[in-house]
Amino acid sequence: MTGWPITLEGANSEKIAADMSSLGYGVIENAVPPDALMQLRAFVESAVQAAGGEYVAFSGADQVKGSLFWDIGKSPEFMALCKDIYERGVGKTFGTHEFYQVLRCLSGATGDRHGYYFHYDSYVITALIPVIIPEGDKTGDLIMFPNSRPTWKYYARNLVDKILLETALSQKILKYLTVRNMIKPLKVKLKPGNIYFFWGCRTLHANEPCDHSAIRSTALFHIVDPYETSSLRKRLGRA
Ligand SMILES: [Fe+2]
Repeated sequence: MTGWPITLEGANSEKIAADMSSLGYGVIENAVPPDALMQLRAFVESAVQAAGGEYVAFSGADQVKGSLFWDIGKSPEFMALCKDIYERGVGKTFGTHEFYQVLRCLSGATGDRHGYYFHYDSYVITALIPVIIPEGDKTGDLIMFPNSRPTWKYYARNLVDKILLETALSQKILKYLTVRNMIKPLKVKLKPGNIYFFWGCRTLHANEPCDHSAIRSTALFHIVDPYETSSLRKRLGRA
């Protein structure tokens, strides 16, 4: 059924790709119809309840099979849009790719630990659909330094960034500077049902912490791994 569970009619890939490069992110408003959003929310709420009110994540399409999350990840229209965005923004042929999808559900004290975890994604495009966003003071906004590095040609260079960023000290410094407003990331207030696009492997990003008692859930669709053929990565077992 066209338009279910996402409506991409009228989405302008040229504008989205341009916004990703100039503003840091592109957005399609109200892409998830209210009925579909309700079903997605119900899935998340029961998953968090089953996890005792704590953090839970689903990695890969198989883990969400039978739900609308799976349908979104398999949507030919969604894939076609990402292909267009990639080709316009990157200037290369898209080829054949599948989404690597992750559903993140932050809740409770364990969810709080994921706040201010700065990282680059491993894929060129990140499409993010907020499912549940807390209201009030601590809404867990997406924070980003848009396009803060190029897509490194070689996996080895990418790995150096990853190792440096993943140290406790780097994370502490970035959090310290952000919390004290000494560096000012772009803050994106997420609205459930919209789709946000950004260049994931070029954009340093994190989320602000959210209320312990609330759920913050985002469905992430990653696409185009720039190092899928890297022999170094295969040798290191990080593929
Ligand atoms: Fe990410």
